[in-house]
Amino acid sequence: MKLFVYHTPERTPTDRLPDCAVVIDVLRATTTIATALDAGAEAVQTFSNIEELMRQSESWSTDKRLRAGERGGMTVKGFELGNSPLACKPSVVKSKRLFLTTTNGTRALERVEHSPQVITAAQINRRSAVNYLLETQPETVWIVGSGWEGDYSVEDTACAGAIAQSILQQSDASLIDLFGNDEVIGAIALYEQWKDNLLNVFRQCSHGQRLLKLNGDEDLFYCSQTDIVDVLPIQKQPGVLVKY
Ligand code: MLT
Repeated sequence: MKLFVYHTPERTPTDRLPDCAVVIDVLRATTTIATALDAGAEAVQTFSNIEELMRQSESWSTDKRLRAGERGGMTVKGFELGNSPLACKPSVVKSKRLFLTTTNGTRALERVEHSPQVITAAQINRRSAVNYLLETQPETVWIVGSGWEGDYSVEDTACAGAIAQSILQQSDASLIDLFGNDEVIGAIALYEQWKDNLLNVFRQCSHGQRLLKLNGDEDLFYCSQTDIVDVLPIQKQPGVLVKY
């Protein structure tokens, strides 16, 4: 297995694809996707474009669908849910399909949606992503962070490092065998630096600050927890994620 880390969709190559893509948007899209599926949602279908979401969700009956998403961290007007994982309670999402649009996470998914295998990861379900990679042993793995509008996000790269570090610890391979680009080494070092206090770094980083202004401290706390959910979202058709 060769691991590559790309900090943003914009930095992700467009002339080839990996055997498996792992998309990360810790704050908050991939945390929300994992939480919704864990709470019994039928699937999460993702869109970067609001108009396309409206068009495709229109044919679903209102008792089977939920429109969810944000722009600038705030709920899209007219949608039932924003992008807070805490809203994804079983009583709200069970057996429903979430039609989800977000500023960056859904764009990252689109960038790699034609890869043979696509999974999503966040800090809360890191172990499930690691177990899947160890079990399936894809030859090339791209861990793609969502960033913010083309810029690097520390929380996504820390999660990429958490995944890479755990694979390194659990396999016989050395770092030299495993790493495909230097970003992997940087991501592991970043995670090592902050692993005992992720909440602190989430409160300081730019998107954490943005969410704090929107009263998002409970979301930050939830998103900063490691391995609290044993669910792996896997793409069954482009843009549609289900429980593995
Ligand atoms: C994104 O996709 O940019 C994020 O999930 C934004 C958010 O925190 O809602």
